[in-house]
Amino acid sequence: MHAKQLIATVLGGALLALTCTSPAMAAGKWAHMDSAEFEAVLDQKFAEGKYSKKGADNCLMCHKKSDKVMALFDGVHGRMDHKDSPMAGLQCEACHGPMGKHNKGGKEPMIAFGEGSPLSSEKQNSVCLSCHQDEERMAWHSSTHNLEELDCADCHQVHAAKDPIMEPATEVETCSNCHTRQKADMAKRSAHPMDWGGMTCSSCHNAHGSMSEAALNSTSINENCYECHAEKRGPFLFEHEPVVEDCSACHNVHGSVNKDMLTRRAPQLCQSCHSSAHNGNPAFNSGSDVMTAGKSCLNCHNQIHGSNHPNGSALMR
Ligand code: HEC
Ligand code: HEC
Ligand code: HEC
Ligand code: HEC
Ligand code: HEC
Ligand code: HEC
Ligand code: HEC
Ligand code: HEC
Ligand code: HEC
Ligand code: HEC
Repeated sequence: MHAKQLIATVLGGALLALTCTSPAMAAGKWAHMDSAEFEAVLDQKFAEGKYSKKGADNCLMCHKKSDKVMALFDGVHGRMDHKDSPMAGLQCEACHGPMGKHNKGGKEPMIAFGEGSPLSSEKQNSVCLSCHQDEERMAWHSSTHNLEELDCADCHQVHAAKDPIMEPATEVETCSNCHTRQKADMAKRSAHPMDWGGMTCSSCHNAHGSMSEAALNSTSINENCYECHAEKRGPFLFEHEPVVEDCSACHNVHGSVNKDMLTRRAPQLCQSCHSSAHNGNPAFNSGSDVMTAGKSCLNCHNQIHGSNHPNGSALMR
């Protein structure tokens, strides 16, 4: 399908299917329109299909004074020489929709993006997805971010030489603006090196969703951990059941006040599952040296992730 038709179909369909659920109002010259009117005008414009004959040149007659608008040409979406780029096709109108009578003083609205847009996230996002519906975004529609009505433009900037979200530091900052609990965890005593080590939220998550729990890049929590902590996969002669099942039974992966990102310290961590271990042995009463000194239970059970020693059934060697 030609890109023009594709976008018109995707967007037009969405416009018809969903009549005004968003209470947002149009800004500036379009302030007298509510979302429904705004969408009706866009719908009409797509039906008429009146694209500018001069493409970007026409738009720039009025918009070239904006540094932000012009920054498009420093980035991938402004490249003329890339065959799938908007600039090689409908240009500005590939994203903002047909000009129609917009050039009559900006009276008719264009598709606008981001928080201030009166258009629903679904409609805005359908524009981007008309070119970016691929393997990376296969699970977008069922993702929590889509269901929470995030816009692609909440994270992405296309009028920029380089989209800042593609830089590790900006990515972590953008994610933590909304995810304050993870942000707080990251700042604790023990955490993954996200602020200095080049690791990002995307090292483990796909922001566009995935088929796994918590939008992880891997098929399960443990598979995710093994990607970087391969030695914990084993196989072990003597396994420790919770290690095989779920690393997050003992670790808070975003960070913790305890050493090694442990959810709790020993002995409490161990006793949450082994409440009766060593019961009846006075040497193990709470307050005894063995419980409070050094690494507590780990003084003896130091192969906590599994053992390959023939006598390692108690995870001590
Ligand atoms: C004759 C001048 C003129 C031309 C030509 C023109 N525009 Fe505009 N455009 C305006 C004005 C004026 C506004 C501001 C409306 C307002 O008050 O918010 C505007 C607003 C916009 C906005 C919304 C900005 C926002 O605040 O979100 C977009 C997007 C836009 N134009 C895109 C385009 C594109 C794409 C083209 C070419 C197809 C184009 N314009 C051609 C005058 C023009
Ligand atoms: C790849 C899609 C895409 C293309 C192509 C595109 N834009 Fe945009 N435009 C956006 C998005 C998304 C925004 C919202 C601002 C942002 O996050 O970058 C935007 C914002 C704008 C705004 C509002 C700027 C502001 O100050 O808030 C104007 C005006 C505009 N675009 C005009 C244009 C013109 C003119 C062209 C062609 C030279 C163009 N756009 C090409 C996606 C696009
Ligand atoms: C007409 C097709 C088209 C549309 C519409 C479009 N893009 Fe793109 N986009 C491209 C192409 C082509 C590339 C370059 C891909 C490549 O080189 O592999 C690209 C690259 C990107 C990249 C990677 C940028 C980088 O710096 O590496 C991001 C992020 C992106 N687009 C987001 C968006 C968003 C968000 C929207 C909607 C506002 C959008 N795109 C709309 C065609 C499009
Ligand atoms: C919650 C933030 C967030 C949202 C919402 C989001 N993205 Fe992204 N996107 C990212 C991050 C982070 C990366 C960089 C991923 C990486 O480094 O692996 C990225 C990368 C991309 C890329 C370039 C690399 C690739 O995956 O091909 C494209 C294209 C893209 N996003 C398109 C979109 C589109 C289209 C939407 C809306 C349907 C969208 N994104 C919504 C965060 C987001
Ligand atoms: C505009 C706000 C916003 C931004 C920015 C944002 N998120 Fe989210 N995210 C949400 C909301 C809302 C939820 C659902 C409630 C929750 O789990 O906190 C969510 C949920 C999630 C989930 C749980 C998904 C699931 O299916 O259980 C993950 C993982 C996630 N976000 C990762 C990220 C990453 C990584 C980034 C940055 C690339 C990011 N988020 C940026 C708002 C945001
Ligand atoms: C080392 C891998 C890793 C990194 C890096 C990581 N996460 Fe997670 N995240 C996970 C795992 C595993 C889960 C599921 C288990 C859990 O909830 O602890 C998860 C769960 C989540 C959830 C869902 C929490 C809930 O209670 O439902 C959100 C939201 C989230 N992560 C956001 C982020 C953000 C934002 C960042 C970056 C600041 C980030 N994560 C970095 C591995 C990671
Ligand atoms: C993308 C790679 C990556 C992934 C995936 C990953 N880690 Fe890590 N992990 C690291 C790095 C890098 C360090 C820091 C190593 C260092 O400081 O020597 C680390 C350190 C740790 C530490 C020790 C923390 C400390 O304070 O010394 C624990 C515990 C840990 N990770 C658990 C996990 C768990 C559980 C998962 C799965 C949910 C996981 N990791 C997934 C890269 C990763
Ligand atoms: C039963 C609780 C428990 C489970 C489940 C668990 N761990 Fe640990 N982990 C610990 C304890 C306790 C330490 C501290 C060890 C020490 O102090 O000797 C630790 C330390 C670590 C460390 C840092 C020190 C080292 O040995 O490299 C990493 C990395 C780690 N765990 C990864 C993982 C991964 C990956 C998984 C899942 C495959 C996992 N853990 C499951 C209890 C657990
Ligand atoms: C999430 C629950 C859980 C936590 C937390 C946990 N374990 Fe276990 N552990 C188990 C299960 C289940 C088994 C295997 C069944 C059994 O023997 O009880 C096991 C087995 C063991 C064994 C081998 C027992 C045997 O009979 O061979 C030892 C030793 C052990 N754990 C020590 C510890 C220590 C020390 C800690 C704290 C660092 C700890 N466990 C934390 C659930 C847990
Ligand atoms: C001074 C060393 C030492 C310390 C400290 C220690 N253990 Fe043990 N533990 C042992 C030995 C030795 C065995 C093996 C007994 C056997 O094989 O008959 C054992 C066995 C176990 C078993 C298997 C029990 C069974 O009935 O087979 C569990 C579970 C266990 N310990 C948990 C813990 C927990 C939880 C702590 C901390 C509260 C702890 N241990 C502290 C030495 C220790």
